Order: sequence, then C-alpha cells, then structure tokens
Amino acid sequence: MEDLKTLVERYKAEIMAEQPQNAAEKEAFRIKYLGTKGLVKSIMGEMKNVSPENKKEAGQLLNDLKIFTEQRFASFEDDAGDENDIAEGVDLSLPGSPVPFGTRHPISIVSNRIISIFSRLGFSVAEGPEIEDDFHNFSALNLPENHPARDMQDTFYIHQNPDWLLRTHTSSVQIREMQQGKLPLRIICPGRVYRNETISARAHCFFNQVEGLYIAENVSFADLKQTLYFFVQEMFGNTVKIRFRPSYFPFTEPSAEMDISCLICGGEGCSVCKKTGWVEILGCGMVHPQVLENCGIDSNKYTGFAFGMGIERITMLKYRIKDLRLFSENDVRFLRQFESA
Ligand code: PHE
Repeated sequence: MEDLKTLVERYKAEIMAEQPQNAAEKEAFRIKYLGTKGLVKSIMGEMKNVSPENKKEAGQLLNDLKIFTEQRFASFEDDAGDENDIAEGVDLSLPGSPVPFGTRHPISIVSNRIISIFSRLGFSVAEGPEIEDDFHNFSALNLPENHPARDMQDTFYIHQNPDWLLRTHTSSVQIREMQQGKLPLRIICPGRVYRNETISARAHCFFNQVEGLYIAENVSFADLKQTLYFFVQEMFGNTVKIRFRPSYFPFTEPSAEMDISCLICGGEGCSVCKKTGWVEILGCGMVHPQVLENCGIDSNKYTGFAFGMGIERITMLKYRIKDLRLFSENDVRFLRQFESA
C-alpha cells in the first residue's frame, strides 16, 4: 500500500511537470496518460494485487490520480482556446486600437513657414552637403586660412582629411549655387549646421539655419530691408518693428545684424530682451564683391544681398521656449505641445 502511494505521488509530480506547447504535444500527453493503453489505465490494473482490506483506500487513491490527470489535461485545453478565438470569438466589426498620431517637430514647423514666406517672394529652396570642404565653407567666403574671423565659427574636422569639415553655416550652399552661374539667383538654404560650442540653454554644437541670397543687376540694401521687413511681419505679425545695427561678416559689405522689437514686452523692456526692447534675429549684408568674383560672377554687373538666421532662435521667440536643448532631446511631453501648430 505504501508503495502504491509513493508511485501515485511520483506520477502526479511527473504530470505536473509536463508542459505541452502545441496541439501535437497535448495529444501526446493524452495518449501517454489517459489513452486506453495509458498510464492511468495500466495503474488501475494494480487493483487486483491489492489486499481486500486496502481495496477501498487504493481505489480512492487511483481515482484521485485519474481526476488529477484529467483536470491537468483540461487545463491545457483552456490555453488552446486561443487558437480558436481567432476564428470564432473576435468581432472584426469593432474599431481597432487607436494609433496615436505624431506631431511635426517645432523646427520643421518653423522651417516650413520660413520657406513658404520666402517662396511667395520668388525664392526657391537649395540644399547642399553637411560635410563640406574648406573652400565652400570658408575660403570662398573671404575667410582664408588663419583669418581671425574663423574663430567665430569653429567646427569639427575630419581627422584624416582636415580639408573636410562639418559646415558651420549654409552659406556654403550659396557658394555652390553661385558657382553654377545661373543668374539672377534667388534662393533660400535651410539645413543643419555644426559648431564647436559648449552646449547650454542658448548654444548647441548643431542647430538649423535658413540663409537667403539674391543676386541680380541693381540689387540694393533697400531691397534687403524690404524683403526682411516683409518676412518678420509675416512671421511675427504686422506690429513688429525692425532695426539694423552695423556688424561684420567677411562675406558681406556692408554687414548688419537685424533686431526685431521684443514680442514679449512690445519694446518696453523685459528679461527676454534684457531690458533693451529689441532682440537680435539674423545677420545680413550686401554680398562682398570678392565673394562674387570667387564664384566667377562679374561684380561690376551684379550685386546681391544675403542673410542668415538660426531656426531655433526664431522658434524660441515665436513659441517662447527658454532652452535650446529641448529641440534635440525628443521628449514627447515637449513635442506634443505643437500638435495644433
Ligand atoms: N553665415 C552667417 C552665420 O552663419 C550668417 C549670414 C549670412 C550673415 C549671410 C550675413 C549674410 O552667422
């Protein structure tokens, strides 16, 4: 009797350990334990060797094993139900699980807006490589090697070939377009640029720019002013004022920085404009005759203006964003806020 008890316990443990993974394995389980020649049937045959006084207890023991095995098998059947659900239980007419919509990145929103404003003035988009050579990024723009103005735009160089670098501005695209020699030329150049800067709330080692260039006969500074005035009114509303301050870029002469009246305080003076009432938004000027000549354009016949702005800066002003790093961190809590923009 004791032997029978241990045997039953051993079989129960064995049955518990079985984990059929598919229909074939479940069937194998059924045949092995519950089939006509299965373990449960054959152990029932042991009854005839049990002494009459133990028969009752042994009967209960074996019956218990049978029920245990059947229940174990039934529990596999429940799992197997999944396979049938596909055919029977799923209502295909119910709406599916919603897929959340993404949003455009604020930099893309503002970049597209800038492009559409300038396209209404006849500017078309030109693009160029982010890995540039020294000529297109610096030398052709009157920034020869060892020129101190290169300090303003330190960048990352390709170690094996220092002639290759990550462009510091999209003025390099303007050089490429001017070299094509198709005049008049009216282009804007959006794209990512790189600088060797310490990352902070106001500076990053990469950011986005839109630069513009217009070259034709008799282009003057008045054209530059009017074009940029139109741009800021379209971008920020028609109450905004502009002012130009003399500045220096090696590739423009004369050069200027353009400020707009502070959007937060309307010119009264606040923390955003550092109490001046004005915020700087872009650099600009008349293309230096030497730059035109560097690209094979007759500087006696043609003149032109150029300007360049950081898209991050415009976006920060437009949406009152305080930290530049938010643009590249890809935090959805930040990005979702532009859903309706
Ligand atoms: N390339 C300049 C910069 O990145 C911007 C600029 C463009 C200034 C064209 C004047 C004219 O800072």
